Amino acid sequence: MTDLRGKTIAGTFFHAPHPGSIEILADALITLDARGDIADVSRWPDAGHAEKRKAAEDAGTLVTMPAGTYVLPGFVDLHIHAPQYPQLGKALNVPLEVWLHRYTFPLEARYADIAFARHHYDMLVGDLIANGTTTALYFATVHQEATRLLVDICIEKGQRALVGKVAMDDPEQCPDYYRDASSEAGIADTRALIDYVAAHPENHGLVHPVITPRFVPSCTDPLLEGLGALAQECGCHVQTHCSESDWAHGYVLSRFGKTDTETLDGFGLLTRRTVLAHSNFLTEDDMDRVAARGAGVAHCPLSNAYFANSVFPLRAALAKGVRVGLGTDISGGPSASMIEAQRMAIAASRMLETGVDPDIAQEKRGRPGSRIDFDLAFHLATAAGGDALDLPVGQFKPGYHFDAILVDPSAPGSTLRVSEELDTDEDVLQKIVYTASRANLTQVWIAGRSVSGGTA
Ligand code: GUN
Ligand code: FE
Repeated sequence: MTDLRGKTIAGTFFHAPHPGSIEILADALITLDARGDIADVSRWPDAGHAEKRKAAEDAGTLVTMPAGTYVLPGFVDLHIHAPQYPQLGKALNVPLEVWLHRYTFPLEARYADIAFARHHYDMLVGDLIANGTTTALYFATVHQEATRLLVDICIEKGQRALVGKVAMDDPEQCPDYYRDASSEAGIADTRALIDYVAAHPENHGLVHPVITPRFVPSCTDPLLEGLGALAQECGCHVQTHCSESDWAHGYVLSRFGKTDTETLDGFGLLTRRTVLAHSNFLTEDDMDRVAARGAGVAHCPLSNAYFANSVFPLRAALAKGVRVGLGTDISGGPSASMIEAQRMAIAASRMLETGVDPDIAQEKRGRPGSRIDFDLAFHLATAAGGDALDLPVGQFKPGYHFDAILVDPSAPGSTLRVSEELDTDEDVLQKIVYTASRANLTQVWIAGRSVSGGTA
């Protein structure tokens, strides 16, 4: 099962092209072209199904997944800080602005050392693939060389990735030892990364560059202006943190008299290819603006529990037509698993709905209608993430890349128990979202190629 390009895959596939519903392709056939894109999806008893199977069998291109296994789209992590992986699970007990200066900037500064960067980036990308993350939208560091290395490692390991050199130049908010030398340098280095990715001889559309102002507080006006102009010029993806915590949101309000969303829009940084991380304090007008621009939001429920002083109003954003996916926000969120991110999104939505303060009368607690279930969480982690990035990933549909994971409930160390007698296919997907772990993800494919992770 190493390489599925040009093959016809027989198996049971789960995906969620639309919010709040899942599609089960039981005993289906998915045919890939030579590049690893999906050429055909055939469900039993579609017309011609048996003939397609027979033809693939005769041609020796039929690959049958083991009985009792399930194929899911790979996960799309819409927000992750690659250099913060070494501090995963540490330093979660201080506010964001303290955390950045005390722990995070000193760690990120170490990526000036390319050997250090190689060691940690290698481990991270391997671990993410093993956790089923087939597309990641990465913040790297301010360093040109280490960011290029992250691009190289994603290409080498075969992970679909969007990589941004972090831009941050404001001496008021960034330490002397860790910032762009000037706004011009931040813009020039961002442009240089875009050129590097475009000219990379082994990059056949797998990795994309991203314009990455860290967040408004860390950037001067000329840097934001220059990056906005670059975004308009090149049409590249843009990522930044938006209205994450009381402090970050308040800082922008006091500097500009406007919200993050309005400020970013004013600088030309709110495009159809923009992903705003967190966005917990979006106003109704902000949501309308984000939706009108077609920008996306990376909902990071685990990190929000530690740093945001808020819960992202997911249902409200979806109702406004905002494109929302899920992010781990490593290491603000202490897990590399997008399955955990789904669970946390569900749990956070339940807490938002019910409220948690027993001193408040029950009928006044919480926000009714906020809850989500496993089907929406799964949609956010797959199809919606692809949609927010404008990439054809996260669904099993002709024209989409075959980025997928094989879930095996009988894998050694399984945390997932499936009963043939008691569980429907829908129950199985529900159990995967709530109980599967890395041990259950026995194969990961990106563009039809088997990509090996840490344990795979
Ligand atoms: N805001 C600015 N930088 C960061 C970061 O690295 N993590 C999080 N969670 N928020 C930020
Ligand atoms: Fe972040």
